[in-house]
Amino acid sequence: MNKIKKINLKKNKSKIICLTAYSKNIASILDKYVDIILVGDSVGSVLYNHSTTKKVSLTNMIEHGKSVKAGIKKSLMVVDMPFNSYKNKIEALKNAKKIIKNTKCDAVKIEGGLSVKNIIHHLVKNKVKVMGHIGILPQTDSGRFKSKGKLPRERNRLIKEALELEKIGVFAIVLECVHSKTAKIITQNLKIPTIGIGSSLFCDGQILVTDDLIGLNNVKFKFLKRFINIRKYILEGIKKFKKEVENKKYPSKKFSY
Ligand code: KIV
Repeated sequence: MNKIKKINLKKNKSKIICLTAYSKNIASILDKYVDIILVGDSVGSVLYNHSTTKKVSLTNMIEHGKSVKAGIKKSLMVVDMPFNSYKNKIEALKNAKKIIKNTKCDAVKIEGGLSVKNIIHHLVKNKVKVMGHIGILPQTDSGRFKSKGKLPRERNRLIKEALELEKIGVFAIVLECVHSKTAKIITQNLKIPTIGIGSSLFCDGQILVTDDLIGLNNVKFKFLKRFINIRKYILEGIKKFKKEVENKKYPSKKFSY
């Protein structure tokens, strides 16, 4: 059975587990436990220290995608289409095909609802598997939105967008910081799965930026739970290395040629 079908069959049965990766080493750790690995354009802020994801290039996504692919044995791999790579149908298809050809990923993700509907439809018609993404849209939202879909007008717009995206053939939709009630309505009304980030337990699956959840990236969001503080373990190793080098214990004969 193909990977997308397998994931979609989890809806209403078991939760879909998704995390981001930007490199082979992290992807190879995640692979055993997750359903989807996303090469997110969050790489711009997490690794390159950009203030937004707007500066992430197609080349960045392809290079990180190639690295991630090398660490994956079983998970579905999705690569974000970066800002400005899907300005129109022709460019979007050309760039999606370039990402898929170079990274061998299973699907791409595009941010936006009705404004990108025709572009996504064009990709789907041309056999590109697409994951949608609505709610907070880091590539285009200006201002400091914390969440979306609390008020009825915005709730109705998000529901409409989700239904339209399903109709044109996306296989799943990320709901970023969507108000719980809205996330619940969307999830209940779609046949395809919703993947939440800060969008409540009602979603069919959950995604987080791995560097955030392991405490490597020092950020705070209401929705972010730090499941482990990996910095502590890295520091322990670095301190031991420093001490042994200073005490001329490392590299001993065993570690020398
Ligand atoms: O870029 C990213 O990592 C994402 C997830 C946070 C959903 O889009």
